[in-house]
Amino acid sequence: MKKKFFSKVTGAIAVLALVTIPNVAVADSDMPWLDSNKTAQERADLLVNAMNEDQLIHMLHGQGMLTGGQAPGGGPHFIGYIPPIPELKVPAFVMSDGPSGLRNGEPATQMPAPIVQASTWDTVAAHDYGQAIGQDAKDRGQDLLFGPGFNLARNPLGGRTFEYFGEDPLLSGRLASANVQGMQGVGIMSTLKHYVANNQDLNRTLASMDIDERTLHEIYEKPFRIAIHGAEPATVMCSYNKVNGDTACGSDSTLIKDLRQTHGFKGLVLTDYPAAWSPTDIRDGLNIELPWSFWTSPERIRSAIANGEMTWDVVRLRVKETLVQMFRFGLFDHDWDSTRGDRVRDMKEIPAARGNAVALKVAQEGAVLMKNDGALPLGKDLKHVLVVGNAAKSQMSGGGSSNTKAIESVSTLDAIKKRLPDSEVSWVSEWNPAGIAIKAPKADVVIVVATQQSSELLDRLSLDFNLVENNAVNIAASNNKNTVVVTQVGGPVLMPWLKDVRAVLNVWYPGQAGGEATAGLLFGEVNPSGRLPLTFPAAGQKALETSDQYPGANGGFNMKYTEGVFMGYRWFNEKNVEPAFTFGSGLSYTTFHYSNVAISQDSGSRSDSFKVSVDVTNTGSRAGAVTPQFYVGKPKSPGLQTPPKELVGFDKVTLQPGETKTVTVTVGPEELNVWDVNTHSYIVLPGAYKVFVADSVNDIKGTAEYTVK
Ligand code: BGC
Repeated sequence: MKKKFFSKVTGAIAVLALVTIPNVAVADSDMPWLDSNKTAQERADLLVNAMNEDQLIHMLHGQGMLTGGQAPGGGPHFIGYIPPIPELKVPAFVMSDGPSGLRNGEPATQMPAPIVQASTWDTVAAHDYGQAIGQDAKDRGQDLLFGPGFNLARNPLGGRTFEYFGEDPLLSGRLASANVQGMQGVGIMSTLKHYVANNQDLNRTLASMDIDERTLHEIYEKPFRIAIHGAEPATVMCSYNKVNGDTACGSDSTLIKDLRQTHGFKGLVLTDYPAAWSPTDIRDGLNIELPWSFWTSPERIRSAIANGEMTWDVVRLRVKETLVQMFRFGLFDHDWDSTRGDRVRDMKEIPAARGNAVALKVAQEGAVLMKNDGALPLGKDLKHVLVVGNAAKSQMSGGGSSNTKAIESVSTLDAIKKRLPDSEVSWVSEWNPAGIAIKAPKADVVIVVATQQSSELLDRLSLDFNLVENNAVNIAASNNKNTVVVTQVGGPVLMPWLKDVRAVLNVWYPGQAGGEATAGLLFGEVNPSGRLPLTFPAAGQKALETSDQYPGANGGFNMKYTEGVFMGYRWFNEKNVEPAFTFGSGLSYTTFHYSNVAISQDSGSRSDSFKVSVDVTNTGSRAGAVTPQFYVGKPKSPGLQTPPKELVGFDKVTLQPGETKTVTVTVGPEELNVWDVNTHSYIVLPGAYKVFVADSVNDIKGTAEYTVK
């Protein structure tokens, strides 16, 4: 792309750059980029060539307001904003968070945390989630959202695990892809964030993630690649951290070579707030600096060009990349308001019911039933119910840029009461152990809502619940044998009381519809079908074994990714360590039987694909959804160790009692490849592949073999 652009326009733009467009009214006919019959590329070419140096520099940065600003003249609220250029009829560029719902300072649908979306293992749910946020954003005059976020959960303590899609590149990439399709389908640009290897919040702006070439490409860049191929996202947000010593927003190796050339990204790159470190980040692949114009100020850009560190051609290329997306998403194709000097935006109130329906569905589908000895579902004949925990009155949500303002919300307690109008439903805080001890013995069931807070900026200090939460569960369980725990958590947790309670339903941070979803699941109106998108380690298990891996070498400034590709379940499998809860696991109120594993062919070439299928039958008495998972064990060679199992496909199907469906997935080079450090490319290894059909990574239901010749 770079070469093509240079060959086409370099000569002309050197001259055009000197022309200053005066700030006077110009007829639309003199602005050919306003012609919507031309392609986005053509229009961007025309416009970039008409821009003077000041206008070009203007497009290299935005203004940011972390808690939400408002565009002049009653314009939209925003988190990031590039003001319009009225003399060229370039509209303002309005951007907001985020991955958990529109966050621009106004109320909007508070979706369940993105990890709930991942736990659905359902690309339709992820599509609808992206679409619902996109629709809210559209109604509030936005152009671009900073989401989805899907850095991999390398570190179980990661503070932002709740904002992401778990530990597997394929699951994360496929769900992100569906989310982007949903959001961009309603005309809002999506942002894949944070590129790349932004796997922790400890020293997040200073630490370098030291990763070998293979692991970087095969694990940490892979989800981005999948989403780029699957959904053509408009935007990528480069991250705070360094990658092998280079700042992520100033690394031509990850931003140009990998992102654009290897993975085929064609959109614009903007900084996380504020992850630029030099004006030459523009040369190295960055398009827009946020939240201010520090490194891309006119003085710094001009001096970098004067010093020969970069050229105006590069600036034009970067501005053009931005403009192509603005044209692609129709930003120029609106009436112009000459009084405000900006386009007209059709802003409406968000209709609350629209997003709430999606928030509810995802919260229901993403909740994971971790344990059930038969206590759930609850009957509606209960006479005395004790609900414990502040989060039963007000749902827990994660902190930081994903923290949205709900339009409306029903608490878990109220949703339970609604289902038991004639019963006594009492509540006590977890901070009142005496109250729990007094009330628990009299209840038919005790429901404890146990929480663990996570937030951007801070990794968690441990996987433990705090003492108050653990005590509340212990006191409830020792005073009532019929104790059920609902967990509202942002990542893996330890449950030392697991054997003492009858059931655990993990609803993560369930969003504004979380109370209703929780009650519906507890009472069996909805059958749980969520699956873990990451491993829950048992007490004392440490997938990151050395302090160099985390909290890092050199006083915490170099994270050594020495585990290589053996991250998450890949590590647990390789080391033969059985965690508390495995990747892909989750229970249902019904039972399923797998049979007839079949593979379309025994062998193929490196570029071939094959199909694997399995029949799944609902053998219980309730309708329910199940997610068959397909893993492969790639061939090993002395120089290249491969994990025992890697996810290559999944599908979620709903089955009525007694019903059987055949689930088939296609597995091809993109699922099978590894990164080859000799050729610096993705290759498919020749040799024997084990194919596993599974209900979770450690629960194998059938196998097949496949040979790449
Ligand atoms: C976060 C981003 C977010 C941005 C704007 C940053 O601190 O890392 O995820 O989009 O703030 O709120």
